[in-house]
Amino acid sequence: MTIPATSVPKVKSPVLIAGATGFIGHFVADACLASGRPTYVLVRSTPTCPSKAKVLRSLEEKGAKVLHGLINQKEKMEKILKEHKIEIVISAVGGEKILDQLPLVEAIKAVGTVKRFLPSEFGHDVNRTEPVEPGLRMYIEKRKVRDLIEEYGIPFTYICCNSIASWPYFDNTHPSEVHPPLDKFQIYGDGNVKAYFVAGTDIGKFTMKIVDDVRTLNKSVHFRPPCNFYNINELAALWEKKIGRTLPRSTITEEDLLAAAAENRIPESVVASFTHDIFIKGCQINFSIDGPNDVEVCSLYPDEAFRTLDDCFEEFFLRLNEKHVSSRDENAPPNPVVEPLIVTATCAEPTSTTVNCRA
Ligand SMILES: NC(=O)c1ccc[n+]([C@@H]2O[C@H](COP(=O)([O-])OP(=O)(O)OC[C@H]3O[C@@H](n4cnc5c(N)ncnc54)[C@H](OP(=O)(O)O)[C@@H]3O)[C@@H](O)[C@H]2O)c1
Repeated sequence: MTIPATSVPKVKSPVLIAGATGFIGHFVADACLASGRPTYVLVRSTPTCPSKAKVLRSLEEKGAKVLHGLINQKEKMEKILKEHKIEIVISAVGGEKILDQLPLVEAIKAVGTVKRFLPSEFGHDVNRTEPVEPGLRMYIEKRKVRDLIEEYGIPFTYICCNSIASWPYFDNTHPSEVHPPLDKFQIYGDGNVKAYFVAGTDIGKFTMKIVDDVRTLNKSVHFRPPCNFYNINELAALWEKKIGRTLPRSTITEEDLLAAAAENRIPESVVASFTHDIFIKGCQINFSIDGPNDVEVCSLYPDEAFRTLDDCFEEFFLRLNEKHVSSRDENAPPNPVVEPLIVTATCAEPTSTTVNCRA
């Protein structure tokens, strides 16, 4: 009996992820495993940091195969790509390691069998914005990686996912691990410049849809979900609704952000320069994405749900209360969210509140 072509299971391309224990990389690796693709994660060495060791253990439990190596070792990377017949390479190495990707690009060119490469982007379109230093340095490095990919004719996609869904602290590199403020809001400028906020799980989920979609070949994919388009005044109001009270506001001026950037403390000043670019200059919204090499994620997957920022803030609130209840003694005050609590929360778990791209 012949099996109709449509019922033959599609063989899924093996994927190699560099930086899978990192902040953005673990969302991508999780989504890759959930998509059922053979998933290889490249680690430099067995992590000594407990949180990275935990991430790696969890990825292995879900089926990831761990490979040891560095992306800046060209020969080693060539060997890995050939030996495991890797067809998709995703890099999520951190901002200070962007140029480590150049030998990886050389290795991809040498083997010639990789069908798609996603370099470590996962932020703004680096060709369209010019943050002040020291953020600019990272963009110049990302542009160098883009230039080499394109010079070699390697099939690519650039993920321009804008901001991670959280309170955008200007002095915190990974704000999605920290809940919004409980004492006062720091509002950048007049607080009216809008930006797009995307849950880490959605960055992973949509990256894995995009990765072998023919419509995204050699394109920049911009994440502009209308349901998560907020200015910082609106973010503050959203959080106040969750905690059931208002908080005082102070203004962080353009000059304050520029001064924090000029201090050149790495990584804090890099974050200050991006905060200035987003919330003062409007770098996420001051260009249109109708060029021949642009595509918007909602136009690709109009029926796919996005997790709402409202839902992410709800989760921060619930976690704050859980933490408070579990650590509370009998004399503790009755309203948990009135006190500033030193806790961390992630916006990582999928929950029921999602809004599709049409919203
Ligand atoms: N849109 C946003 O809001 C947002 C937020 C944060 C970051 N980003 C962007 O996302 C990308 C990833 O940044 P991140 O903050 O997630 O990075 P990260 O947390 O610092 O993680 C970097 C990962 O890369 C690995 N790595 C570094 N150098 C390597 C090498 N030579 N070979 C193999 N692995 C290597 C690290 O491994 P070890 O465990 O061995 O150190 C780690 O797992 C960057 O492009 C960044 O600009 C965007």
